[in-house]
Order: sequence, then structure tokens, then C-alpha cells
Amino acid sequence: MPLRLAATCPLGLEEFLEAELQALGASDCVRERGAVGFSGTWDDVLRTNWRLRTANRVLVELAGWDGSSAEALEAGAGNLVESSRSWDGLTAAELFDPRLSFAIRATSSRSQIRDTRWVGLKVKDGIVDAQRRRFGRRASIDRKNPDIRLRVWLSRDRATLLLDTSGVPLDRRGYRVVTSEAPVRENLAAACILASGWNGNGPVVDPMCGSGTMLAEAAAFALDLSPGRHREQWAFERLPGFDKSAGETLREEGSGLPETDLRLFGVDRSAEAIETAGINLQRAGLAELTSLEVGDAYTFEPPTGPGLLVVNPAYGERLEENRDQWSRLGDLMKQHYAGWQAVVLAGGEGLGKNIGLRPKRRIPVRNGPLDARILLFDLY
Ligand SMILES: C[S@@+](CC[C@H](N)C(=O)[O-])C[C@H]1O[C@@H](n2cnc3c(N)ncnc32)[C@H](O)[C@@H]1O
Repeated sequence: MPLRLAATCPLGLEEFLEAELQALGASDCVRERGAVGFSGTWDDVLRTNWRLRTANRVLVELAGWDGSSAEALEAGAGNLVESSRSWDGLTAAELFDPRLSFAIRATSSRSQIRDTRWVGLKVKDGIVDAQRRRFGRRASIDRKNPDIRLRVWLSRDRATLLLDTSGVPLDRRGYRVVTSEAPVRENLAAACILASGWNGNGPVVDPMCGSGTMLAEAAAFALDLSPGRHREQWAFERLPGFDKSAGETLREEGSGLPETDLRLFGVDRSAEAIETAGINLQRAGLAELTSLEVGDAYTFEPPTGPGLLVVNPAYGERLEENRDQWSRLGDLMKQHYAGWQAVVLAGGEGLGKNIGLRPKRRIPVRNGPLDARILLFDLY
């Protein structure tokens, strides 16, 4: 039986995550809010963790049961621990081995039990009581660094227990050691690049580059570099029966910089941001492709194109300030980047409405707690 898996993502990125999963050969993809479900094996768990650019985590669905009361939540968890179930070779006895510490995080929506701590507590009680019955002892809880990371999603009074195989969220690639003001999440930056439909040819310019995230993600996409290549730890490595050699083979996929004539250009008016971008792009192994300078986006002379223009302007607080910023950006795109493809990640007041150019697509997304739009343009 294949595993039923779910990759989670920031709201609005589901279609890009689904396209990535399909490109990796995932089957039975089902798009949900903030997640895409799919079927696969443990190899797929490792590969998706290593390769997905837009995901937050990869989870294995362990079981589902009635969660309409505290008793039902507890009983369902207990039955699972005492069962003979297995997930593509990993048995319940191995997963709930009391020598392994665990932690549970819970969410609840449209259910009678709304207190997520209560949901987590009841499932935990069900697990440890059943461990005592089955093994004669219970596991310890370790919230910071557990062996096993569990999630309970309670939705419409149905509990689903999932195993987190990622640990630290996948958007923390590990190349961004320092960040400037308001950096964009790596997976949202990657979604901007995927959404653009850019084929990886021509230079990439970010004239308000901040810490350089958009440039790093554009290069990783164009050069097929794995987003996981700088990460050191994954939750799946601590699962019982984890095959170290499978992990090592995978680590070679997309981990070295190929021969390329790709060039990245980053500009920012803040010297501190440029210094930050330099450190981050160096860590990402992209320093030799990159030119960075302190300067003004509106006077920067772009290299010979066409290529990809990516920009994530600051979120101004005042409406007037924003109107002016958007219309200046629109003029810049028309005057300096004719023939290029452009992606604007627009947030704040107006969400880029006054740009004065008609985007070919406007995609609503969440940038952390804020509403944002990915705007796509073909510039003529
Ligand atoms: C929201 S931040 C960009 C964040 C970036 N995408 C990242 O991931 O770190 C906006 C950046 O635009 C820069 N900026 C604002 N106006 C500018 C201008 N006229 N020319 C160059 N940079 C500008 C700011 O200094 C700031 O670093």
C-alpha cells in the first residue's frame, strides 16, 4: 500500500506545489487549502523533502478517526498504537516505540473541540496510555527536539494524525544566514519564479534585492539546484529503519553548480542589504554568477536582455507613498525592461494596483501574516 502524503505550503501556492509534485512523478494529487495530498513511498518522502521549492513540510498520513469528543480522540490514538498497522514497512510498534520521544502539534477547524492544546493533550494521553499497555512503559515528550513529530488536524470532528518528516520547515533552506529588512520567505520567492513561466534563459535582475532571496531562488530554479542542498537535518532521519544510504544518494541530486552563463544582478539602496545579499548568495554557492551594487532601482542600467525582472518593493505604510511607488515601478518596467518577463511581489496598500500596466496574471498569496499578490507581466 502506498503512503498517503501531504505537502503543506503557504496559502495561494497550492497550484505551484501541485505542479512541482506532478513533475516529481507524484500520483493522486489532491489540492487542498494550504496543502496538496498525494500518494507515494518513503523514497518519495525523501525526494519531495529534498526537491520541493514551494512546500513548508512533507507529512505522512498515519490514521483518521472520530474526534467529536475527548474520549473519542483518546480512544482513536490508543487503538492506533496497539494496532498492527504499518506504513510502507514502518510498523505501529516501531513508530510508537516508547524509547523514542515525541511531540504533538494540533489544529482544529469547524469542530466541537476548538482548543488545540486540548486536542493535542487528548491524543497524547491516548498514545502514552496505549504504550503502557503494549510495551509496559511510555515515551517521553520532547517539544524542542523530539525523535517523532506528530500533527493532529481536527476538521469537522474528524481527527487525522500525521507524521512530520521535515522538521525545520522546508522554506528555511540554510543559505540565508543573515536577512535584511522584510525578507520574503524562500518558498514564496520560489513560487514567484515558477509562476513567471521563465525558461531560465537570460539575466535575472532584482533592483530592490534586499537579502537576495529572489535571485537565489531564480538561480536554483534555472540551474536545477535542489532547495534542500544546504540543510543539515531532516526529521525523517530519526525515524526507525531510516536507510542512511538512500539519503546519501539523494544528496547528490542537484547539489553542484553546473557550467552556466546565467548572471544575477542585485541592486538595493541600502548598503547593509547589499552586504547581506552578498553573504547569502555566497552561502548559496552563487557568488561567481552575481553582481551586486548599492544604487537606485530607478536609475540602474539593466544588462542586455531579455531576461527576468523580479522585484519585491518595500511595503509602504501610507497610501500616497504607495501610489507613487507603484506608478514609478510601472514606468521603470516600460522604459528599461522592454521584451523582459517581470514578476512583482506586491504587498501593502493597493497591492500594486497603481502600477499602470496590465498584469497577465494576478495571484493572491499570503506573505507570512500579510496579504500579497504575485503580478506577472510580459513587457513589450
Ligand atoms: C521588501 S524589501 C525586499 C526584500 C527581498 N526580496 C528579500 O528577500 O530580502 C524591499 C527592498 O527594497 C529596497 N528599496 C526600496 N526602494 C529602493 C530604490 N528606490 N532603489 C533600490 N532599492 C530600494 C529596500 O532597501 C529594501 O531592501
